[in-house]
Amino acid sequence: MATPALTIQNNGARLQREVSRSLSFSTSPNDSFNSRRFSTSIEGTSPTLRRNTTQGTPKHLKPFREEDIKILLLENVNQTGKDILTNQGYQVESLKSSLPEDQLIEKIKDVHVLGIRSKTKLSARVLSHAKNLIVVGCFCIGTNQVDLAYAATHGICVFNSPFSNSRSVAELVIGEIIALARQMTDRSSELHAGTWNKVSNKCWEIRGKTLGIIGYGHIGSQLSVLAESMGMNVIYHDVVNLMAMGSARQIPTLDGLLERADFVTCHVPELPETKNLIGAPQLEAMKQGSYLINASRGSVVDIPALIAAMRTGKIAGAALDVYPQEPAGNGDYFTNDLNPWATDLRNLKNIILTPHIGGSTEEAQSAIGIEVAEALVRYVNEGVTVGAVNMPEVTLRSLTMDEPDHARVIFIHHNVPGVLRRVNEILGDHNVDKQMSDSRGDIAYLMADISNVRESEVAQLYRELEGLKEKVVTRILY
Ligand SMILES: NC(=O)c1ccc[n+]([C@@H]2O[C@H](COP(=O)([O-])OP(=O)(O)OC[C@H]3O[C@@H](n4cnc5c(N)ncnc54)[C@H](O)[C@@H]3O)[C@@H](O)[C@H]2O)c1
Repeated sequence: MATPALTIQNNGARLQREVSRSLSFSTSPNDSFNSRRFSTSIEGTSPTLRRNTTQGTPKHLKPFREEDIKILLLENVNQTGKDILTNQGYQVESLKSSLPEDQLIEKIKDVHVLGIRSKTKLSARVLSHAKNLIVVGCFCIGTNQVDLAYAATHGICVFNSPFSNSRSVAELVIGEIIALARQMTDRSSELHAGTWNKVSNKCWEIRGKTLGIIGYGHIGSQLSVLAESMGMNVIYHDVVNLMAMGSARQIPTLDGLLERADFVTCHVPELPETKNLIGAPQLEAMKQGSYLINASRGSVVDIPALIAAMRTGKIAGAALDVYPQEPAGNGDYFTNDLNPWATDLRNLKNIILTPHIGGSTEEAQSAIGIEVAEALVRYVNEGVTVGAVNMPEVTLRSLTMDEPDHARVIFIHHNVPGVLRRVNEILGDHNVDKQMSDSRGDIAYLMADISNVRESEVAQLYRELEGLKEKVVTRILY
């Protein structure tokens, strides 16, 4: 059942004024929201785009044609994200759950910005009804719930937050290293069942042991620092040559890492090359009685091979947070129907099985809320696509209050020869102060800041650009 709207902020006349003066959070985080007084409206009679100017400070752009920015947030997006968006003066409606497809189609018909998490499926069919949609914010890591190609070809930019939970994953792994070394979860389960089993045999301190990190990116490098501070020796292997944190050492080959490490932990992306990165030969190459942790992707470890290696005692313990098949929701799903070896895995000793919770903390959710909401604000207010997952990444420095008669033209178009010439013919009567264009597949994104623009000319420019057959979306911010 869909939850009714929690908050619908800023409607009516107040909304129109505030949204039409919507500010750029990213360019001017210290400015108070109501600090500017713009003297024009789109239908206004003022001949130029007059504003009160303050030398040097960033100018807050307002969109031409999207005066009433409507935002729909689904799946209980974190309060941090809601606050950033409502403080912009946008109309924000926030629902606690996702919506069934028919309700979603109805609901997104007139929204400009949509915020979702992993449960809302944005298929081509759903997106085809979102006629005003300019941007989608995935307040999560993954974006495979969105038809990214369809979105791009319809000028809908998609953002996510790939790295906000790195610290949370790194901390989970630290906890698992200690728990495995002390067989802590077995002792705990025994005591839960009423059995007192005090043992020290094959229980270890982690101080002085070697941690081998495979993939030294956002998570791997954070983990490196935490592990060293607990007295571990850190080695890592990465396909890229990377600067070590602290006293860590890069090992050129995977086998070189496997034969040295007491604990091996995987932090690589899911790629064809990382499928079964740790299989039977790699487990064989590991030290006798060593430990394996995987909180990256389920495809990275060959789990039947791990089960075999744990049964022989070659691997003394393991922690898995990710699996080849994961259920879509919570419940009694971790069975052989989901993965054929589930029962064998569950019956092993000293194995920590967690349901993909590596990044699931309050702090990570809060950071995701901030990162994605800021990206949405930058996109709506300035057209900046840095961090977009389906569009070329384009940015220009912010317009300042010293540039009162400037406008920013954004033209998303099909990437075919001759478009830039036609666009520049249209912009030609103005001074193009700066311009950036980039393409990704079939879609190209042009951003141009032009000067000496009169208000009446903004409407004319808009009409002319809209008339180009290669156009996907035209936006003019001024
Ligand atoms: N369990 C969770 O909840 C959770 C949360 C966040 C991220 N993750 C997963 O963790 C993994 C790492 O995330 P990240 O943010 O650190 O990614 P990242 O992109 O910052 O780092 C990945 C590193 O792996 C390296 N790499 C790629 N292929 C390699 C190979 N074949 N051998 C060795 N190194 C290789 C890359 O060069 C890069 O340095 C990803 O798979 C991500 O999906 C899981």
